[in-house]
Amino acid sequence: MQEKIGYDISIVRPQMRSDDFQMRGQGMSSARLKSIRKGLRTLHTLETMAVSIYKSQITKKVNEHNRQLITAMCNEMTHVQDFLVKLYEYGWKPGKLRGMYWIAGSLLGFFSQLMGRRAVLKTGIWVETAAVHRYDEFLETIDWDEATRKILEKDQADEYGHINRWKELLQSSKA
Ligand SMILES: [Fe+2]
Ligand SMILES: [Fe+2]
Repeated sequence: MQEKIGYDISIVRPQMRSDDFQMRGQGMSSARLKSIRKGLRTLHTLETMAVSIYKSQITKKVNEHNRQLITAMCNEMTHVQDFLVKLYEYGWKPGKLRGMYWIAGSLLGFFSQLMGRRAVLKTGIWVETAAVHRYDEFLETIDWDEATRKILEKDQADEYGHINRWKELLQSSKA
């Protein structure tokens, strides 16, 4: 896993200005477009699942873990927005199976929550590690436009941040 540096992960929801929105894909080869579309759809689906996992892991307890879960949920909602916007900028629509991933995420979140705090943290680490690998694969194999590549790098840096936060909380819950 290669961690990207230079991204401020304390920014949960980066600012977007009207000029940041562009129509994309003109003049690109069909092979390049096809790989970008596959990447965007997959990431949009995975991020949708991440939101639903965290949403269903949050409990009513007043503690640092819940505060971090809410923060992570918001961050994942930003990631969903990132890829949804890029899909439409390219003239595409999200993948059709995303509803199933939403349900899968809710189930994963719900059952991990039933099994307790450590299971919640371990599920988070497991899912985020898989996400980081997927980002690595797509950053290496797809010829992104520059703006979209930067989104992938920032969002991957956020996922590393989530892994680190859950690991820290797991450590402190041992004590
Ligand atoms: Fe994410
Ligand atoms: Fe994440």
